[in-house]
Amino acid sequence: MKTKIFITGSSGFIGFHVSKRYLDKGFKVCGFDSMNNYYDVGLKKSRLKILKNYKNFSFIKGNLENQKILNKSIIRFKPSIIIHLAAQAGVRYSIKSPKVYLNSNIIGTYNLIEVAKKLKVKHLMIGSSSSVYGSNKKFPFQEIDKTDNQVSLYAATKKSTENLAHSYSSLWKLPITILRFFTVYGPWGRPDMAYFKFTKNIINGKKIDIYNKGKMYRDYTYVDDIVDGVFKLTNKAPKINNSKKYKNDSLSNVAPFRVLNIGNTKKILLLDFINTLEKKLKKKAIKKFMPMQKGDVFSTLSDTSLLKRITGYNPKTKYQDGIQKFLNWYLNYYG
Ligand SMILES: NC(=O)c1ccc[n+]([C@@H]2O[C@H](COP(=O)([O-])OP(=O)(O)OC[C@H]3O[C@@H](n4cnc5c(N)ncnc54)[C@H](O)[C@@H]3O)[C@@H](O)[C@H]2O)c1
Repeated sequence: MKTKIFITGSSGFIGFHVSKRYLDKGFKVCGFDSMNNYYDVGLKKSRLKILKNYKNFSFIKGNLENQKILNKSIIRFKPSIIIHLAAQAGVRYSIKSPKVYLNSNIIGTYNLIEVAKKLKVKHLMIGSSSSVYGSNKKFPFQEIDKTDNQVSLYAATKKSTENLAHSYSSLWKLPITILRFFTVYGPWGRPDMAYFKFTKNIINGKKIDIYNKGKMYRDYTYVDDIVDGVFKLTNKAPKINNSKKYKNDSLSNVAPFRVLNIGNTKKILLLDFINTLEKKLKKKAIKKFMPMQKGDVFSTLSDTSLLKRITGYNPKTKYQDGIQKFLNWYLNYYG
């Protein structure tokens, strides 16, 4: 029988790519998404349309906060694995609308874990973010680093979710992997993210806002590399770490729980990223230099040696190549 995977946020950027990979590999996927209008719903519909072409794909439109619909959807499908990628993302919007984040990310994740516990799924993977490292000054970020300094409400809800998941895992021995993604970009990306807005505005001859005068670094990770990392973890559910073998591990000693970075392990200066976009688009950006934005961090950089040790993870996409692939998609999709 085909392994059944339940994927929340399947119409979102990462959820779409992850769903597609599992479908391409012959898994049975049930997607769940509210199709909310945080950004262009048309883009979400286009992603969903592609997934609906697969006979092994089914879809439920629903809100994570609606426990009844969520429970019914999951219990009926009986997945052995759940990948939770639905969330209210975005640092900036969380300053304006914090409640949405508390509802989607904390209440929503709580509802999901509750049903995963009831079903005793073999592996629950939960999308988290490099933003949980907050204002940490030690680079690269490692999973065992302290994460007590979130500087945005978005990041605080992500960290809360990780804590919630650990307590459930410990109480009910539910195998959970936390996936800390680092600035994901690529085809079918999120229109609210900087690289997407830069592209749109450069093409349309509009100014781009560059925060902290471009002196910021991000570990940009191409979406296919993210998907590789997730896919390779499918059958690698964590176990309780009883041994002292791995001292620098992120496994819990009381729960089948593990935290893993998924990044590209290279930091790129924002100005260099913009330069690359300009060169590839053969057009100069109209730059408006701005101060650092509230809630932003100066730099991110991942250490992914743990994921590599477990799965052989090896991010392959150089950012110049990844940008090209994004632009090819963008120009084709938007004409
Ligand atoms: N894209 C990145 O760079 C990045 C970086 C770090 C972490 N993440 C995390 O990865 C996950 C996926 O992010 P993404 O970039 O694909 O974002 P996305 O916004 O494209 O996808 C999220 C999807 O979840 C759905 N959704 C949101 N709230 C919901 C709710 N309450 N109930 C049901 N569906 C809901 C949305 O409609 C959307 O389709 C999120 O957990 C995000 O926090 C993303």
